[in-house]
Amino acid sequence: MEHLRIYAITLLFLLHFTTQTAAQPAPAPAPPGPTNITKILEKAGQFTTFIRLLKSTKVDDQINNQLNNSNTGLTVFAPPDNAFSSLASGTLNSLTDQQKVELIQFHVLPSFISMSQFQTVSNPLRTNAGDAYNGRFPLNVTTIGNGVNITTGIVNTTVSNSIYSDNQLAVYQVDKVLLPLDIFGPPAPAPAPSKSKKKASPLAEGPSSTSSDSTGASAAVSLNWSASAGAIAVVAALISLWWSL
Ligand SMILES: *[C@@H]1O[C@H](CO)[C@@H](O)[C@H](O)[C@H]1NC(C)=O
Ligand SMILES: *[C@@H]1O[C@H](CO)[C@@H](O)[C@H](O)[C@H]1NC(C)=O
Ligand SMILES: *[C@@H]1O[C@H](CO)[C@@H](O)[C@H](O)[C@H]1NC(C)=O
Ligand SMILES: *[C@@H]1O[C@H](CO)[C@@H](O)[C@H](O)[C@H]1NC(C)=O
Ligand SMILES: *[C@@H]1O[C@H](CO)[C@@H](O)[C@H](O)[C@H]1NC(C)=O
Repeated sequence: MEHLRIYAITLLFLLHFTTQTAAQPAPAPAPPGPTNITKILEKAGQFTTFIRLLKSTKVDDQINNQLNNSNTGLTVFAPPDNAFSSLASGTLNSLTDQQKVELIQFHVLPSFISMSQFQTVSNPLRTNAGDAYNGRFPLNVTTIGNGVNITTGIVNTTVSNSIYSDNQLAVYQVDKVLLPLDIFGPPAPAPAPSKSKKKASPLAEGPSSTSSDSTGASAAVSLNWSASAGAIAVVAALISLWWSL
């Protein structure tokens, strides 16, 4: 009995501690106003091509709107200018407008993934470009320690830097442009059908780019609120456990 109380007190203490830790401000100072992906990338520098493509495909508005309306957050993989300049010449120009949109959407995941969460995600990850299965837009990650590698079936690359993270939006620098199989793969991919129907990842089934309206508080505020509500619920559960001992 006494043991259990000590255990409960320790848990409460730890919970309090981790809640406090989670509430610390993000290392990168958030720009004032609503989260704005182009502003974040402009501040980081070296992303002019990616910014230009975000704007021309209007994926920047999509990202900003999704951030304002989503409670799962977003993850963006940003290739720097030298990644674009090392593409075979004419690569971008050979794409249709629709393919450019898909290429940029392929760099956006419809959920917030922290650096450490990459270790537990299941492949293939869903991107805003859509179908991660059937050889269309798979994006796989592998991790060793803190290192995160990405493969698309066309390119292998590394997450080289965390540019921004505020628990709703994570922006990572990747060394190469993520070329999706659907656009750059062989014209008629013939994946083993049994393999592609394997167990689905929870991420792959997450909400896609919906644009449901949220009224009142911003997504960031409601996210924080539900996080604290969750913490309060856990504390309440622990207290009732304690009382029942
Ligand atoms: C985001 O920032 C860019 C550049 O700083 C600016 O041109 C654009 O209007 C901003 N978008 C929104 C929705 O505030
Ligand atoms: C990532 O790829 C590099 C180069 O191919 C390799 O040396 C490294 O071990 C890989 N890391 C992970 C986490 O897979
Ligand atoms: C991604 O991972 C899935 C599941 O492990 C695998 O079936 C698929 O072949 C992988 N795709 C690529 C491009 O590595
Ligand atoms: C990417 O890595 C995989 C496994 O490590 C390898 O089989 C494949 O050939 C690599 N692809 C490229 C384009 O380097
Ligand atoms: C964010 O969403 C709210 C509520 O839907 C809306 O009033 C506001 O204009 C949106 N802000 C941006 C920058 O889209």
